[in-house]
Amino acid sequence: MENSGQNLTPQEAAALLAFYVEAGVEEFFGDEPVNRYALQDSAAPEPARAAQARQTRDLTRDLPRGTRPDPRGEVAPPQDAPRTAAPSAIPLEDAQAAESARIVAARCATLEELREALANFEGCPLRYTAKNLVFADGNPKARVMMVGEAPGRDEDLQGLPFVGRAGQLLDKMLVSIGLDRTAVYIVNTLPWRPPGNRTPTPAEHAVCMPFVERHIELVAPEVLVLLGGVSAKQLLNTDTGIMRLRGKWATVRVGQRDIPALPTLHPAYLLRQPAQKRLAWRDLLALKARLAPAG
Ligand code: URA
Repeated sequence: MENSGQNLTPQEAAALLAFYVEAGVEEFFGDEPVNRYALQDSAAPEPARAAQARQTRDLTRDLPRGTRPDPRGEVAPPQDAPRTAAPSAIPLEDAQAAESARIVAARCATLEELREALANFEGCPLRYTAKNLVFADGNPKARVMMVGEAPGRDEDLQGLPFVGRAGQLLDKMLVSIGLDRTAVYIVNTLPWRPPGNRTPTPAEHAVCMPFVERHIELVAPEVLVLLGGVSAKQLLNTDTGIMRLRGKWATVRVGQRDIPALPTLHPAYLLRQPAQKRLAWRDLLALKARLAPAG
């Protein structure tokens, strides 16, 4: 853009913003792409970094020695947990945020506490660009828990998962096997919308996954349905593509439980590739068969 807006009077800036709104602009991006993987710790947005450091300090103050992040920012694993190295693509500060997330999530004994904890959690920068927290929808006592990818625009506005076009298709898919939202519980791997629906970063996933895992642990569903490649990749900890994973029962271990999990195609993908609905239909039948009473 010729004029970056820096030389505008307040009236001109207001008129420009009004024009953008009228033109349907709802996201603002920089002119140059930013390689966030290459950002150093010091380049992370200050409010998020400061808030995260404060929150980590507060959260870990009363933890036993050896379970607190060390002064250099290294994160020591809890003594009773196997050490899992943070993926190398995740900067140290993000690994620290993921560790605080794990501590916060583990302390939640109910879904209400988990919702509250997420609403107050400052370690994920997505919360600063999202309009609403998208926690869950459906019946927490349902036998089936579905995990999608991330909220889109409609979900962000309403604070509920799968309420846009993909959600409407998901509802139809459920009805086709005799289910509806009272018979399933729905969450996403991320509870905040990535701005402009951009692809979430590994760091964003790493910091949100402890909440998703605790969410699953608290709901304790009989089966999980993993909607799309991102959900399957995160929960099955694999790089295998969804086309190879779909329709095959796998296992997700949370807490002390192994939960059968069925990866399937994401409804948004089915909207773009309707011919693939025949594969999704097979997966739905596999789910239906699993839920049918034995005998
Ligand atoms: N896609 C998702 O993965 N989740 C939603 O909530 C909406 C669309």
